[in-house]
Amino acid sequence: MRRSHIFGNWKMNKGPAESREFVVSLSEELKGVVGREVSVFPPYVSLSAVAAVLKDTDINFGAQNVFFEPPGAFTGEVALEFLIELGCRYVIVGHSERRKLGEDDKVVNKKLKRVEGSGIVPVVCIGEKLEDREQNRTFDLIANQLKIDLDGISLPFIIAYEPIWAIGTGRTATPEQASVVHSFIRQKLADAEYPGDEITILYGGSVKDKNIDQLMAESEIDGVLVGGASLDLNQFSRIVKYKE
Ligand code: PGA
Repeated sequence: MRRSHIFGNWKMNKGPAESREFVVSLSEELKGVVGREVSVFPPYVSLSAVAAVLKDTDINFGAQNVFFEPPGAFTGEVALEFLIELGCRYVIVGHSERRKLGEDDKVVNKKLKRVEGSGIVPVVCIGEKLEDREQNRTFDLIANQLKIDLDGISLPFIIAYEPIWAIGTGRTATPEQASVVHSFIRQKLADAEYPGDEITILYGGSVKDKNIDQLMAESEIDGVLVGGASLDLNQFSRIVKYKE
């Protein structure tokens, strides 16, 4: 179901103590807020601390990554089973910062295969680099990412459109730029026989308290994946409470 999703990707920020403190304050701050699907994505090591605080609240949490193999001899990786045990509702797959470290579309697809049917909903990140946009390759690139990443994958999943040139740069896509790509993604999903109209598509890339109202005014934008601005309690709370 499409809803008003506000997701905070903390990236490699906030250890267990700081994460705990943050979600205690966040749940206070968001008391009485309805109609928003809020989730935070702390680093792996902070998930337990966050889970303990959020279990009795309406705020969800998820992981920033997962490995594609079941538990075993994979030093430094984290298995889906552990995320299930902790009560994660979501997992981000294919974030551009992971792709930059070598994760390609085939790996993203393997991870999605692993998550499929587990009860955890993957948030699949796609998006073009600045040079792709400048050379008018945005749509081809997005179509290709969707094709490989989602090959053989069934719902549920959420798509996050995150143009790489907008991530952490302060350079947000205009609501119109984001909308055009969202509607293209929806069409591609429909072409692949997914119920395009029902799939949640988030925008990510320098979302702030200053631009959230304009972004959420676009009917194609079902929610946002917020990086930097989700680290600040006041800013993130304002983003969650965007004005319709
Ligand atoms: P940003 O990051 O909001 O700091 O640009 C977004 C993301 O990477 O998910």
